[in-house]
Amino acid sequence: MKTITRFRSALLLVLAPLACTLSLEACAAGDVAKGKDVFATECAECHSAREGKNKKGPSSFGIVGRKAATIADVEYSDALKSSGITWTPDKIDAYVTAPKKLVPGGKMKYDGLASAAERADLIAYLATLK
Ligand code: HEC
Repeated sequence: MKTITRFRSALLLVLAPLACTLSLEACAAGDVAKGKDVFATECAECHSAREGKNKKGPSSFGIVGRKAATIADVEYSDALKSSGITWTPDKIDAYVTAPKKLVPGGKMKYDGLASAAERADLIAYLATLK
C-alpha cells in the first residue's frame, strides 16, 4: 500500500512539470489539493479558511472576488483600506508574490511565495472557499 502511494507521489512529481510544458493552461489552472497544503504551510498561521474566523489576518473565506479590507471587525492597515483592490486571481497572485510591493505600508508580514506553480495551486484552492 505504502509503495503504491509513494509511486503515485513520484508519478505526480514527474507528471506535473510535464503538464506545464505540454499545456500552459494545465499548469496555470492549479491543483486544489496541493493548494490546500500550500495554504496550510504558508498562510494558515495567520489566515483561516473558515467564514468569520479572523486570526492575525482576516478570514480567507470568499476571498476570491472580494473587495480588499471589507471584513467589518478586522483592523486593516490604512494602506490596504485605501488600495481600491478587488481580489481577482491576478491581484492575489501579485500580493502573494510580494505583499509589500502591491500594498506598500500594508501590514501583512509575509515575505512572498516565489514559486508560480505553488501560487497557482494556492489560488485554485482559495477559489473553493465559498
Ligand atoms: C504573518 C501573518 C500572515 C501570513 C503568513 C499571511 N498573511 Fe495574509 N494578511 C495578514 C494580515 C495582518 C493582513 C491584513 C493586511 C493589512 O491590513 O494591510 C493580511 C491580508 C491578506 C489579504 C487581504 C484580505 C482582505 O480582506 O482584504 C489576502 C488576500 C491575504 N492576506 C492572503 C494571504 C495568503 C494567500 C497567504 C499565504 C501565502 C498569507 N496571506 C499569509 C497576515 C498574514
